[in-house]
Amino acid sequence: MAASSVFKAGLFNYKVAIVTGGGTGIGKAITSELLQLGCSVVISSRKLERLESAAEELTQKIPPSSLAKVTPIQCNIRNEEEVKNLMASTLKLHGRIDFLVNNGGGQFSSPVNLMSAKGWKAVIDTNLNGTFLCCKEGLFICSYNAWMKDHGGAIVNIIADMWKGFPGMAHTGAARAAVDNLTKSLAIEWADNGVRINSVAPVSARTLKKGVDMHISPAVCFLLSPAASYITGATLKVDAGQSLYHSVWEIPDHTAWPPAPEGENTDILREIMDTTKSKL
Ligand code: ADE
Repeated sequence: MAASSVFKAGLFNYKVAIVTGGGTGIGKAITSELLQLGCSVVISSRKLERLESAAEELTQKIPPSSLAKVTPIQCNIRNEEEVKNLMASTLKLHGRIDFLVNNGGGQFSSPVNLMSAKGWKAVIDTNLNGTFLCCKEGLFICSYNAWMKDHGGAIVNIIADMWKGFPGMAHTGAARAAVDNLTKSLAIEWADNGVRINSVAPVSARTLKKGVDMHISPAVCFLLSPAASYITGATLKVDAGQSLYHSVWEIPDHTAWPPAPEGENTDILREIMDTTKSKL
């Protein structure tokens, strides 16, 4: 978790952020850095107990001179009423919502052929529909009680390294790719509200488990900050170039492939596969 920040102290004084999934992992690191920079943060997730203990822990680290505070609010981002309540409660508490970080999400490992329709829908519902609801309600809670719509703001959607597909977790790959596209649509639709919206794509989950959360949070803070005031609809990969230089997927066996059209040499394909494999 970020203990300090490369950004100047007080950068986000008097600002207010909502970080979904703010009690664990990347969300907790983002919350910690925002607090360091003077931003008050509402953290949300479905599990209130875990959220409350994270809030307590994070509170201990707020500099004594800071006015920032962290507040836990329970919210299932799949549920429209709960999302409305999250936004309305934040406005009631702080009177403003400057930033929204859509980090809450979840998935499970399974090849598609073993995935039930229910499991597929649940992951799409959390990662795509949940993000949609938070963005929409963040802006337009209701016509007389909206902040970002009239005052502008910045949104960051946390997505994933799904640029080469996501075998083993196809549901979350599809949802995150959709969120990346939603980000671009909203960047245009909400530009005249003064709302910037970008996405951050962290390294693969396997690398994240090794504890690189603190590398993601400065990228989010940058995109929320005035340093990014001309950046919207962008996707920032925070993966040390990993998505460019290698694939985490094993090359599958192609021996069951259909025969090539007459006259073509199937051996060429096999040769390419063998050469690529030997380089791994
Ligand atoms: N994190 C994982 N699933 C979630 C959900 N449905 N609502 C909020 N945070 C979550």
